[in-house]
Amino acid sequence: MDCVLKLDRLPEKKPFIEGIRRAPRRDSVLSEHDMEIALKNALRYIPEQFHEELAPEFMEELKTRGRIYGYRFRPEGRLWGKPIDCYEGKCIEGKAFQVMIDNNLDFEVALYPYELVTYGETGQVCQNWMQYLLIKQYLKELTNTQTLVIESGHPLGVFRSHENAPRVILTNGLMVGLFDNPADFNRAAAMGVANYGQMTAGGWMYIGPQGIVHGTFNTLLNAGRLKLGIPKDKDLAGRLFVSAGLGGMSGAQGKAAEIAGAAAIIAEVDYSRIETRYKQGWVSKVSDDLKTCVEWAQEAQKEGKPLAIAYHGNVVDLLHYLINNNIHVDLLSDQTSCHAVYEGGYCPVGISFAERTRLLAEDHEAFKAAVNASLKQHIAAIDELHRRGTYFFDYGNSFLKAVYDAGVTTICRNGENEKDGFVYPSYVEDILGPQLFDYGYGPFRWVCLSGKPEDLDKTDAAAMDCIDPTRRYQDRDNWVWVRDAKKNKMVVGTQARILYQDAMGRLKIALRFNEMVRNGEIGPVMLGRDHHDTGGTDSPFRETSNIKDGSNIMADMATQCFAGNAARGMSLIALHNGGGVGVGKSINGGFGMVLDGSERVDRILSSAMPWDTMGGVARRAWARNENAIETCLAYNRDNEGTDCITIPHLADDALVHATVMNALKD
Ligand SMILES: NC(=O)c1ccc[n+]([C@@H]2O[C@H](COP(=O)([O-])OP(=O)(O)OC[C@H]3O[C@@H](n4cnc5c(N)ncnc54)[C@H](O)[C@@H]3O)[C@@H](O)[C@H]2O)c1
Repeated sequence: MDCVLKLDRLPEKKPFIEGIRRAPRRDSVLSEHDMEIALKNALRYIPEQFHEELAPEFMEELKTRGRIYGYRFRPEGRLWGKPIDCYEGKCIEGKAFQVMIDNNLDFEVALYPYELVTYGETGQVCQNWMQYLLIKQYLKELTNTQTLVIESGHPLGVFRSHENAPRVILTNGLMVGLFDNPADFNRAAAMGVANYGQMTAGGWMYIGPQGIVHGTFNTLLNAGRLKLGIPKDKDLAGRLFVSAGLGGMSGAQGKAAEIAGAAAIIAEVDYSRIETRYKQGWVSKVSDDLKTCVEWAQEAQKEGKPLAIAYHGNVVDLLHYLINNNIHVDLLSDQTSCHAVYEGGYCPVGISFAERTRLLAEDHEAFKAAVNASLKQHIAAIDELHRRGTYFFDYGNSFLKAVYDAGVTTICRNGENEKDGFVYPSYVEDILGPQLFDYGYGPFRWVCLSGKPEDLDKTDAAAMDCIDPTRRYQDRDNWVWVRDAKKNKMVVGTQARILYQDAMGRLKIALRFNEMVRNGEIGPVMLGRDHHDTGGTDSPFRETSNIKDGSNIMADMATQCFAGNAARGMSLIALHNGGGVGVGKSINGGFGMVLDGSERVDRILSSAMPWDTMGGVARRAWARNENAIETCLAYNRDNEGTDCITIPHLADDALVHATVMNALKD
């Protein structure tokens, strides 16, 4: 096995294809000494005889792009997740991960494919194209008794392990606490030692915006049930949902709203992203005229028909129009990339998208000031709509945190800082947490590695067969979801499906699929999930925002989930810093499990699948979450003799309050 990148000659420089989105210049404040290190770091991948030619080219990238991507090492043309048989490899997992990586970098899937960004403005597969080539080189040679180690995109090497060990263990952006902040992270990223993996970008488990359509659909529907009083068997017909963002993940909003029956207006400043969603049929109408957008929405509401409208413009302008014209909004959110608010994730009102890109590159301080001013107007408009009866929720994009960072302390529950949360709930706190995560329902997914649509059809039917729609309303929602999934045309990239399931539902489906592979009914399957799940993510502003025992600031759960999955033999395990909310604000992890039809895989699934989810439910139960306690009690009964989850005693609130008051009096 070669321990360096095989390179006889330098690949030619290639032109960038017109129309493919490019990342803005990234923020980096490097000293002269840092720049020298950055350059040496990038040249570590390249044989010495090419350094003279490459050093100035890499330096130019650092100066103009803020990072060294090694553009000329990108393979020519479109990368895409091909059928697994098209890949070389000595074990099935080695080939399977190449499918997943190439899908994450597909022009049709990725946000900034040339900069290796899959979604979420900054979520990268790895840091540069030299790493990409070296990872692929290792994956081709990897055997089923070895493990490839990836640290922030860098393949550290292949080490001996055993058949039941993970084939890939990867981490992204984990920083020592003292330096765990955006400024130090940006410096480390510019020096080529830190990768922002987001969640499934650097975890190689992205399945296009479909991945989030299901979660968004669940959130909107349950928000309607909980906050608008819509009965459990009805949808959002006649209701108006307003939000912003039609990018990588946010692009799911229109589609999810339509599936949930609502009329939706989604603001987006970048026309190229509207075009993508329009071509896919994920938004049905487009206009830059606010009056037209509102008329379309009102007509759909009157007829009770679903309709997703893209407004080409700034969300703040949209909200001002709605206020000034007294338009009632039922549900309101935002999915601009506020986790990277000063890096281009949020476009300030009053300037065009093109001006935003120029300002970002030329005057970062002015850009920051414009963002802060815009966020202040944005939250004031939300406050006004809220006063008029709109339900607003933060959609896990750090919007409220960004508003706080812009200087608005009234957004804090305690009026001072973010420690007690914000005055508006995060969607997990109010909706997804209690209704889904506390039961273990989360974003389970799979990819049919054969690339055959018929395999996906067969797995959809098998999954549907595994669900009892009469057990709980969540099961009914999931059953309907998978029944209609094909009709809703959600595949972008590989033949993949998302389906919210609880622990035992996931296990049942996983075992069924592995049996189908064994019987030759379908080709191999990659199982995985979004990191945004019951047990995979510690994130006080999002996934763990409905944990109220003070442990929401701890990252033990995500770390245990990662280690436990490794111990049980998942094919790939990942642990990241940041994710959807930004550096220092979350620790999240995920897995990939290749189903090859073997009994060995059955055995791994039987212990790993319940652990991956129930570790999270157990922690939620210990935090005294009612639905989680109920779920754990049932799990203990059903798994007596193998598993046992600790259950809390519940103290009487009045007793606790009186005791504290008495003690304070003394
Ligand atoms: N809730 C979840 O489950 C979840 C999941 C993934 C991502 N996220 C978060 O959602 C955010 C969006 O993710 P993404 O992948 O879509 O990112 P993205 O950067 O691809 O898309 C965001 C879009 O918002 C647009 N935008 C920015 N400012 C705007 C403004 N003022 N008005 C109108 N449009 C504006 C941008 O042009 C961009 O297209 C991220 O912060 C991400 O972390 C949430």
